[in-house]
Amino acid sequence: MQFEPGDRRRVLPRHLRPTPAPEVFSYSIRPARASDLPHVREIYNHFVSNSVVTLDERRSSIPYWREKFAMLTRLGLPFLVAVSPSGVVLGYALAQPWAGKNAYRYTVEDSIYLGPGAGGKGLGGVLLQALIDACQQLGIREMVAVISDSKAEASIRLHAKLGFVEAGRMGRVGHKFGRDLGTVYMKKALTPTGRRRLFGR
Ligand SMILES: CC(C)(COP(=O)(O)OP(=O)(O)OC[C@H]1O[C@@H](n2cnc3c(N)ncnc32)[C@H](O)[C@@H]1OP(=O)(O)O)[C@@H](O)C(=O)NCCC(=O)NCCS
Repeated sequence: MQFEPGDRRRVLPRHLRPTPAPEVFSYSIRPARASDLPHVREIYNHFVSNSVVTLDERRSSIPYWREKFAMLTRLGLPFLVAVSPSGVVLGYALAQPWAGKNAYRYTVEDSIYLGPGAGGKGLGGVLLQALIDACQQLGIREMVAVISDSKAEASIRLHAKLGFVEAGRMGRVGHKFGRDLGTVYMKKALTPTGRRRLFGR
């Protein structure tokens, strides 16, 4: 059957239409820039307002992120973002000091958050591995993850896949959205390939 211009039925029935090529999820990973901070803030605040994966209850501000960015830059610790080919920030991962006392200087705590639509596609693993690699090059020896004990199964699974082991739990240390929450501690011994510079901490 041929269709002439002006024929009303020019669209093929659904079952005869060619299947569209699957969308490729592509991204690159690079150090965060000051201009990324509003996007990082949006990603994090989404989880502050809508989930218990973070025990933060107050939405973070731009000055908060500027201060964190400056602190990590000063300490030489990695703050990475994954960006789409068009430059959209899809997610971030950072390593911050585990504790303030100087003798903890070889240990960091990781933080990783993906934006809407970026989860479940393997990006979390790539981003966290990039963070681990960067920390190893800096001579960091241990990475700790502090994870909510509720609704954070993807994070626990992700960390376990990358070699983190559970180091303990604390129940009922938090309270958000009217319910008690605890924390799961996971830890990974890194293989430092570089020498840790001693910062002014
Ligand atoms: C945690 C996070 C970074 C993981 O990144 P991701 O790219 O989405 O990771 P994946 O989708 O590959 O999931 C990782 C694993 O968790 C599993 N998983 C996902 N959701 C799960 C759920 N609800 N229950 C159990 N396992 C789950 C996946 O199956 C996958 O395991 P597999 O590879 O063995 O199949 C991402 O989901 C995220 O940003 N979550 C919200 C913020 C957050 O929780 N950050 C961590 C705070 S500590």
